[in-house]
Amino acid sequence: MMTLGFMSLSHQHEKAYAEELAKKASDYGIGFIRFTPLDISPGSMLVKALTYHPKSGQWNEVEREIPELIYDRCFYGRNQQSKKAKPIVEWLKKYPKTEFLGLGLPEKWTVYNALKADPVLQAYLPPTSLAASAQTVLRRLAKEKSCILKPAYGSGGRGIIHLELSGKTVKAAYQVGKHKQIKSFSKQASFETWCKKVLQHRYLLQTFLDIQDKDGYPCDIRLLLQKNGSGEWETVGKTVRRSYQHGLLTNLAEDSESVSFDSWLSNVPKKRQAVLLDDLDTIANAVPHALESGHGPLFELGLDICLTKDGKVWLLDVNSKPGKKAFLQYAPENRELLYKGPFEYCSFLAESRDKKGVGRK
Ligand SMILES: Nc1ncnc2c1ncn2[C@@H]1O[C@H](COP(=O)(O)OP(=O)(O)O)[C@@H](O)[C@H]1O
Ligand SMILES: [Mg+2]
Repeated sequence: MMTLGFMSLSHQHEKAYAEELAKKASDYGIGFIRFTPLDISPGSMLVKALTYHPKSGQWNEVEREIPELIYDRCFYGRNQQSKKAKPIVEWLKKYPKTEFLGLGLPEKWTVYNALKADPVLQAYLPPTSLAASAQTVLRRLAKEKSCILKPAYGSGGRGIIHLELSGKTVKAAYQVGKHKQIKSFSKQASFETWCKKVLQHRYLLQTFLDIQDKDGYPCDIRLLLQKNGSGEWETVGKTVRRSYQHGLLTNLAEDSESVSFDSWLSNVPKKRQAVLLDDLDTIANAVPHALESGHGPLFELGLDICLTKDGKVWLLDVNSKPGKKAFLQYAPENRELLYKGPFEYCSFLAESRDKKGVGRK
């Protein structure tokens, strides 16, 4: 029996999701374990994993071989756990006896360039460059008055800074937890000192888009794309994330809420609705190909898209490890589809291997 391994940095991560998957696995004749990269013993090449026991609702410890298929749900931070796990995962990606459903994406600047190379997607990308120095940032501000600094290795809205120039003062706004913090620099030299410190990490410099809806709530549209049982990309979830009034970001986990896509859409002026839906389709059709051709196979993608007041649609961000919760809240009928997804795709992978005559590695 083929086994799918759900790999994350802790056994607690996405517990409910892993449990639903564990319950589904047997319908597909697929075994299911969860483990962390640190559970692999380099000597024996065995994994100290957990299997789900549906009757008791418990996860039990077992020792298994490294699974044939891996669903990588590791989210790295700056902690020790991440530092230790990352090289193990890189090694696993090359280990011939296992296959990742999707290989994940590189940092944002590389992703941006891959998207930018696509003639269709170009039109949907906010003008973006690398924030090479404080001078680059100041020049952009002088021209556009307002811009966004975005960490190349960021996620979940962390590290995003909104800069504004009024007169000679630069204002930097960023979110710390629930609160919007603002720093004001009336002297260029003090801004440069601060900016230099920020830019020790790699940052993207991007045109600021007014993503607030008519009531002043920043909103963005999230699309969840997955490969189906025939290996073809499909849009399997659509939702809208909304932050608090006059906030900066739409995605700080505790502060933002999900809004049903349909109810949100009904507030968009009628004549814009059709164009918007058309743009979403165009983007959803183009992104997977633009990324897979350069970076290898993917299983799923989360797209962050926004609509500005002038009716224009922008692609803000692409994630290769999208969360699922937001997509389930207003579309419980999606549950089946989302929990089946990884297994449908596993079955497809197994079939295509058999067809190629490779058999199971
Ligand atoms: N160019 C922009 N203009 C205005 N707001 C932005 C811009 N880019 C990002 N944001 C806001 O910041 C949030 C996080 O940015 P994003 O690019 O999705 O990075 P990540 O989710 O990886 O932190 C977005 O969901 C959006 O609310
Ligand atoms: Mg994002």
